[in-house]
Amino acid sequence: MPKRAPAIDLQLNLTFCSGLPRHRQLYSALKRAVLDGQFRSGNRLPSTRSLARTLGISRTTVLDAFEQLSAEGYLEGKVGSGTRVACCIPGNPERASQRLSGRLARSAPRVSQRAHLPIEEDLSFLQTSARPLRPGQPESSLFPRTLWSRLAAKHWRRANRDPEHIDSLGYRPLRKAIADYLARIRGVRCEPDQVLIVGGAQQALYLCAYTLLDPGESVWMEDPGYPRARRAFLGAGLKVVPVPVDAEGINVAVGRKSHPSPRLVFVTPSFQCPLGSMMSLARRFELLQMAKEQASWILEDDYFHEYRYGAAPVACLQSIDETGRVIYIGNFSKSVAPSLRIGYLVLPPGLVESFQRARSTISRQPPGVEQAILAEFITEGHLEWFIKMSLRVYSDRRDVLAETIRKYGEQNLEISPSGVGMYLVAWLKQRIDDRDAALAAAAHGVDAIPLSAFCSRPLRRKGLVLGYSGYEPERIQLAARRVCEVLSAIKT
Ligand SMILES: Cc1ncc(COP(=O)(O)O)c(C=O)c1O
Repeated sequence: MPKRAPAIDLQLNLTFCSGLPRHRQLYSALKRAVLDGQFRSGNRLPSTRSLARTLGISRTTVLDAFEQLSAEGYLEGKVGSGTRVACCIPGNPERASQRLSGRLARSAPRVSQRAHLPIEEDLSFLQTSARPLRPGQPESSLFPRTLWSRLAAKHWRRANRDPEHIDSLGYRPLRKAIADYLARIRGVRCEPDQVLIVGGAQQALYLCAYTLLDPGESVWMEDPGYPRARRAFLGAGLKVVPVPVDAEGINVAVGRKSHPSPRLVFVTPSFQCPLGSMMSLARRFELLQMAKEQASWILEDDYFHEYRYGAAPVACLQSIDETGRVIYIGNFSKSVAPSLRIGYLVLPPGLVESFQRARSTISRQPPGVEQAILAEFITEGHLEWFIKMSLRVYSDRRDVLAETIRKYGEQNLEISPSGVGMYLVAWLKQRIDDRDAALAAAAHGVDAIPLSAFCSRPLRRKGLVLGYSGYEPERIQLAARRVCEVLSAIKT
């Protein structure tokens, strides 16, 4: 009879002090030892009896651990007549990748070119949670939590029983509520079936790029402009053509000279992002004419239109478009809550089917219950009430920020508060680099975005984008004063 190989010496270092059952702890220790290569294929394990004795545990505990390891393929052989480490150890991807870690750590995993998008605006100096004066933050304490919870409870009770939750265009009552609201407030002309609900403006931007253009085709982008739009277009493989902005909005004549026939134009006519100017009527018609001649699509991002401080509302571009070239983007990220992640597109009728098909490649439909809650929030008039209430708060905060900067930062900053929005641009008077200014402010506990983060081309005049909506007046005063002091201390 051949002699049995001696059992391996198990150095398990097990103290059994965790809260897990002992057989699970023993199982994990043995498995780790096998995967680490401490025990090799064919190694014979000690008998369950002797192992139990060595570890000071019951034999049943050892049997349970062995049984589990045998079931998973780590051990083989008959319990009692010698248990061995299996000849073929199932791969453990985690371990395997750890073994390769030296190599992998040096070379990044291969991903698509799109995923390598450079993030032009390096704002890594900002903290994860917003501090004053980070722009675009709604005041979270104003959110009507009790009302929203009541609506949520009501609609969750109906969940899975409302067939309208499953609609690839989005929940129809919400689409109708949006169409009615936009007709009243923005002069948008559309039917509910032209409204496509998406996961915020960002998804709308990417969906437009994906659906309307092929990689390599060109899009005019306001410069300075919304960096996340630029990123969505670059991510879809488009050629982004920066077109300068002046007091009247995107400069169509300059754009025509440099790149006469874009397939798409991205604009923010009601509040140019980030300068805050409103596109003049003459520019609007010039842009629509260009789009008609060149068969270009216009993407109108109508964000912030709700926040007007005394300035008369101007109807949106979509409302004066006679040729069906305008796609309207709206969102509830500011007017309801950023975490809601619901936005929408208003599409020319001829585009609806293509967008419906395109959206189904990335998601079947938006979350049903959230849409139902929002629909009731709008139809019952809560949205308009909430916006009115927020406006009063934001208007005071805007004044506080403007006054503080005028009082303490006159020699370094010049502000041109717009009658719309949630932030303002403070222009740097001295030859101070806006990124240096933002870095210095961040070091003193204040978040400010350098205007250059919005630009593709170097700016003639630099500035800081300062938000006021999300912070109490005392905090705004303190932060704004600190920015002014920090700027005075920077040597030019
Ligand atoms: C120009 C612009 N459009 C849209 C949005 C809203 O985007 P989302 O709905 O993805 O939050 C923002 C938010 O900051 C913005 O600045």
